[in-house]
Amino acid sequence: MRAIVIDGYGGADRLRLDERPEPVPGPGELLVDVRAASVNPVDWKIRQGDLKLILHLGFPYIPGGDIAGEVAAVGPGVTRFRPGDAVAAFVDLKRGGGYASRAVVNESAAAAKPDSLSFAQAACLPIAGCTALQALRDHGRLLEGDSALVTGGAGGVGHFAVQVAVAMGATVTSTCGPSNVEFVRSLGAERVIDYTREDFTRLSDRYHVILDAVAASSFAACRGSLNPGGTYITTLPGPGMLFWSAVQTAVGLVVPRARRARFLWVKTEAADIATLGRLADDGRVTPTVSHTFPLDQAAEAHRLSEQGHVRGKIVLEA
Ligand SMILES: NC(=O)c1ccc[n+]([C@@H]2O[C@H](COP(=O)([O-])OP(=O)(O)OC[C@H]3O[C@@H](n4cnc5c(N)ncnc54)[C@H](OP(=O)(O)O)[C@@H]3O)[C@@H](O)[C@H]2O)c1
Repeated sequence: MRAIVIDGYGGADRLRLDERPEPVPGPGELLVDVRAASVNPVDWKIRQGDLKLILHLGFPYIPGGDIAGEVAAVGPGVTRFRPGDAVAAFVDLKRGGGYASRAVVNESAAAAKPDSLSFAQAACLPIAGCTALQALRDHGRLLEGDSALVTGGAGGVGHFAVQVAVAMGATVTSTCGPSNVEFVRSLGAERVIDYTREDFTRLSDRYHVILDAVAASSFAACRGSLNPGGTYITTLPGPGMLFWSAVQTAVGLVVPRARRARFLWVKTEAADIATLGRLADDGRVTPTVSHTFPLDQAAEAHRLSEQGHVRGKIVLEA
């Protein structure tokens, strides 16, 4: 099968197209004919070696954490899928494998592809979409009528977060650069703050939940923008995050409506892909794919993602 591999940590030029043996699905696993793999910042962070103490990769390594395609074969014990089914799925990042014409995924990390979405759009649901959903629902405990602020509302996680928060009945404010103001408004944000002109932490507005999707701020800076009992959630733990999380947990034991600081690491839950799929089929969440590249241009895709200003998502087509 065709696959993009790296033989060691390094720059985007380490990504090369190769012929690799086809993976064999084990118990509870699916072999998927990949139609699209989305590019996430974690892919190039892994490539650079930023996560080497956590993931302990083996080389050659095939990057790629989320895919959409058709089931080609199922391993023993698989009950929810059969060959021919269209799916969207998380790929285990330690094992790797998304940037390939075929990939193995766990049945528990796969959901039916929503009918309303293309394969390219469906491939964006697992990591970016589920991060947004889990942050707002599980960590932020966002409720109908709440107010939410999302930093980076034009990005992969952020553009899902704005739409999911609106679907949950929240009033949404979001930050982005000047070229994305209209785009973020079109996602349903009631107020859009151009971060090059205004710093939301210096304004008087208060929120029930602040999702710092691009880790552009910090709990210390955002604390004054949270309502009592409000929650700050970040996708990247900065140096102060563990400290603030511990302090706020302790404060929460004695102060009934203490503000909370949370970091999340996305859970590979098929049910959450399915939840986003229902929102997509209802027309309430639409993944934006701003760039597609053929598989052999994965290096170009990484270079673009690393610039940090992609609108929505980048997708590789296998
Ligand atoms: N912990 C987890 O489980 C988890 C899961 C997913 C992602 N993440 C992390 O979360 C971060 C975001 O991921 P992503 O996929 O959303 O990244 P992304 O798609 O690459 O984000 C790009 C977006 O960031 C916006 N942006 C850049 N600087 C900004 C700023 N100062 N304020 C507001 N917006 C800004 C850009 O908008 P403009 O062009 O308008 O500036 C662009 O649209 C990454 O660091 C990623 O590794 C963590």
